[in-house]
Amino acid sequence: MRRSFVVAILILIAGMKGAEAQPLQKSLDAKIDSILSLLTLEEKVAMCHAQSKFSTPGVPRLGIPEIWMSDGPHGVRGEINWDNWGYAGWTNDSITAFPALTCLAATFNPELSFQYGVSVGEEARYRNKDVLLGPGVNIYRTPLNGRNFEYMGEDPHLASVLVVPYIKGVQLNGVAACVKHYVLNNQELWRDHINVEVSDRALYEIYLPAFKAAVEEGGVWSVMGAYNQFRGQHCCHNELLLNKILKTDWDFDGVVITDWGGAHDTREAALYGLDMEMGTGTDGLTTSTENAYDYYYLARPFLKMIKSGEIEEAVVDDKVRRILRLMFRTNMNPNRPMGRMNNKEHLKVARTVAGEGIVLLKNEGRFFPIGPNREITIAVIGENATRAMTVGGGSSELKARNEISPLEGLQARFQHARIIYSMGYASGPPQYGRVVPSALDADSLRSAAVAAAARADVVLFFGGLNKNHHQDCEGGDRQDFGLPFGQDELLEQLIQANDNLGVILISGNAVEMPWVDRVKGLMQAWYLGSEAGNALADVISGDVNPSGKLPFSFPVRLEDNAAHHYGKLSYPGDSVNQYYQEGIFVGYRWHDIREIRPLFAFGHGLSYTTFELSGAKTNKQSYTAGEAILVSCQVANTGDADGAEVVQVYAGKPDSKVERPVKELKGFRKVQVEKGGRRSVEISIDVEGLAFYDESIAGWNLEKGTYIIYIGNASDNIFQQLEIVIQ
Ligand code: BGC
Repeated sequence: MRRSFVVAILILIAGMKGAEAQPLQKSLDAKIDSILSLLTLEEKVAMCHAQSKFSTPGVPRLGIPEIWMSDGPHGVRGEINWDNWGYAGWTNDSITAFPALTCLAATFNPELSFQYGVSVGEEARYRNKDVLLGPGVNIYRTPLNGRNFEYMGEDPHLASVLVVPYIKGVQLNGVAACVKHYVLNNQELWRDHINVEVSDRALYEIYLPAFKAAVEEGGVWSVMGAYNQFRGQHCCHNELLLNKILKTDWDFDGVVITDWGGAHDTREAALYGLDMEMGTGTDGLTTSTENAYDYYYLARPFLKMIKSGEIEEAVVDDKVRRILRLMFRTNMNPNRPMGRMNNKEHLKVARTVAGEGIVLLKNEGRFFPIGPNREITIAVIGENATRAMTVGGGSSELKARNEISPLEGLQARFQHARIIYSMGYASGPPQYGRVVPSALDADSLRSAAVAAAARADVVLFFGGLNKNHHQDCEGGDRQDFGLPFGQDELLEQLIQANDNLGVILISGNAVEMPWVDRVKGLMQAWYLGSEAGNALADVISGDVNPSGKLPFSFPVRLEDNAAHHYGKLSYPGDSVNQYYQEGIFVGYRWHDIREIRPLFAFGHGLSYTTFELSGAKTNKQSYTAGEAILVSCQVANTGDADGAEVVQVYAGKPDSKVERPVKELKGFRKVQVEKGGRRSVEISIDVEGLAFYDESIAGWNLEKGTYIIYIGNASDNIFQQLEIVIQ
């Protein structure tokens, strides 16, 4: 009897190819049910928790495979040991490092997001991963969050539009994306326990939309719960977030996975929406013969509660159904592609995303581009010109097969120039959870750099943050808004020595810039992955005309940011609770409503050419629910280089019954326009997208009346406003 079950299961798994095969006639759910009926209670419980750092057990006697996961989100992480966080030391796990997600967001280019997803998914597939732990779409609330570089910025619409193609691209490979960290994990400090209190309105309008888009439009197959608590319950087993919003309202049919160590209670984990527990406390096998994974909340304690009748067996059945569904989509799908990695195509995608994501913030006297054929002396200064940025930063750290540094990229492209390099400052090595200062002497580094600057025709300063603890790194937040490692002082002295100076900031966060008026050029260059140096040389030389736009605001001072305006209880909280007192006024929504000028606004980004936007109109004046508003305009390239511009459409409701942002991004389109050319652009906005979340009815409210549509190329550069009416 048992043997025939085994045969049946093998047919179920392997036989999905031939249309004539009997199992194919059944729906996926019927197949899943029939497998479920073969599993013992112990086997079902085992599927709900880890067997190693990054895998869950299969059911060997039935041929059901293990599930293997990997970080995420910028490339496939090196192999980790079975039972601890050490690297396994394999030699076949070096990969392509793609630019960090802040850079992808800065491209404002959903098509590139798709290519990114396909490529990283192919690498994950080749590495035999079933789940890729990414992308991350937590909203950029404060520039101090150590993990902002892994996310897609401050605007829910931008993050929603860009997360969907990433997920689709990954999942085309039969690899599940795992959108994370659901939700409100907007700081690293106290992330394991801090309880976030936020209004329903801010939750629905700001923090949930990108997750909702990931589920409803991206069809994501797994979701990772956040570490923190929301309204007194951990997000990895949170009744409202998981059972109600995710699984009921959004109809999510995939697997909820904990963040590593995010489960805290068996009953809550069982009943409040968690499906799979990973990373809980233990480091696996001890000196005893017992398996430490049996002590997970969803292991033996779970089994015991089911056996005693405290928890119904239907609870584990639902989890296993979801897990099997994920497996039919991934490792039990015999038709999934084979994947590939470290190929030219992936490097090209990495370089293109990097080139399109770099944001030109300032360009006085056309400092950039710097002609690559000029016989000049370029002083390249700063540790970030040579530092590997795929290393460090926590779980997103990568073992890149190759990483071209900015200095190497410039040396390859500027062969007629004399390039002199001076480090200028030093930060120390990346160590997770610990700051290790550099042993190098700061004064000598600084004076050598100033001397190099004085000898050069052009100075390029590569500074910013890095992947050390308390910089752009998981497990801690930044301690200051200013640049670290004495860079501000160094920059002052460099400018004194040679004011023909441009700054290339490598960071995933906004920083304070006391020197900004005195530098000629300024670029925001993110963490760019394997092709960092080549992509930077592309843009600096003018081979690529910059077209990136900021996915978050750069405030002048930290207090100009809404979360910080409200003081400690707002950020970072009192270590037990924190209150998002700014509500929906995050990022540019705050700058607009309080009329606080940002240093650089959301959506800002210059080009080597100039664009003129004109002739904006809507297809009609008055709309009803269910319709689309078609906004069109002309984009003329009035400069002397081909380039791309991002037309941004914002909407606002002046006389609303509730306080609303002046304007909110509702649509955008990136267009390539040849020099001297002109293109028409059309952007479609769903009328429903103009609704606000009305707490008095616990639902969306599309107010009637007049709305203003703003068309521009940055949130602080609107060239035309139009009125429309919703009836
Ligand atoms: C991070 C997750 C990551 C997981 C596994 C956690 O510490 O928060 O983003 O996927 O570790 O490495």
